[in-house]
Amino acid sequence: MDVQIPVVRPRRLRTTPAVRRLVAETRLHPAELILPVFVREGITAPVPISAMPGVVQHTRDTLKKAAAEAAAAGVGGLMIYGVPVLQDATGSEGTNPDGILQQAIRDVVAEVGDQLVIMSDLCLDEYTDHGHCGVLAADGSVDNDATLLRYAEMAVVQAEAGVHMVGPSGMMDGQIAVVRDALDAAGYQDTAVLAYTAKYASAFYGPFREAVGSSLRGDRKSYQQDPANAREALRELELDLAEGADLVMVKPAMAYLDVLRQVADASPVPVAAYQVSGEYAMVEAAAANGWIDRERAIMETLTSIRRAGANQVLTYWAVEAAGLLRG
Ligand code: PBG
Repeated sequence: MDVQIPVVRPRRLRTTPAVRRLVAETRLHPAELILPVFVREGITAPVPISAMPGVVQHTRDTLKKAAAEAAAAGVGGLMIYGVPVLQDATGSEGTNPDGILQQAIRDVVAEVGDQLVIMSDLCLDEYTDHGHCGVLAADGSVDNDATLLRYAEMAVVQAEAGVHMVGPSGMMDGQIAVVRDALDAAGYQDTAVLAYTAKYASAFYGPFREAVGSSLRGDRKSYQQDPANAREALRELELDLAEGADLVMVKPAMAYLDVLRQVADASPVPVAAYQVSGEYAMVEAAAANGWIDRERAIMETLTSIRRAGANQVLTYWAVEAAGLLRG
């Protein structure tokens, strides 16, 4: 049989590293990576998170060092999660001006606030004894509007501590409007809001529960989105934009690249994606077993998330990836 000689040869643009570099459509830059970090109250040395090899719960001191390291690596921002000693029904520590998150915000802003965008998680699950992202009604359901009042207070104490951008992650209806209003009323017009716009009820948050010491009773399906749905992500986008979101986010990333693409196509504001704890754990576990090439897998996942439309990527590999990008 005669072979038809191809006239069109796409392989031509794949022949050398130089040509591949020239035609690459997607490029990563350290400045668009955001490093999530955990700071735990009442510890004197960092505590490893077993399901996230290489990630720790920091002391206030080691967090400052990690922040300086991230700044030196050229990453764009930090997202800080506080792990308090005290958890209670309403998450009191979340609004304690001297709570662990607020102390850490002050520390980090003083240390690297001129180089990095400092962000803080605005949610109650780290602070509640039942582990939910809000306060509970008498029947045990998560009370949307009572939770909004708590978020408004949290926004103000975080802004008072000097944070640049707050990240409401609880998926309560109306949370962006309430946070924006509270910030403005307290004189924090310049504190930005990173809206968790499309946040799914995902198994990939598993390792995070260990990271923040949360023992969730039940699940989050009454407030986080059903993995089956994409359309409602666009509705959430419209609402968050109308409520004043400065950035919007899709989370998790890898299992939701289609949602990310749709949000990216529709959004007039920057779109972030969160490569969550379980995505990190999967790659680390496979690599530890010698089943995949760790560094290639990391860079491939980040490139895919960028290619799907993310402008910023939250990733536990931010500092390492920044190093790999520098060569
Ligand atoms: C809620 C919150 C969660 C994560 C970030 N913010 C947990 C959840 O919604 O169950 C997960 C992040 C990760 O898994 O890396 N405050």
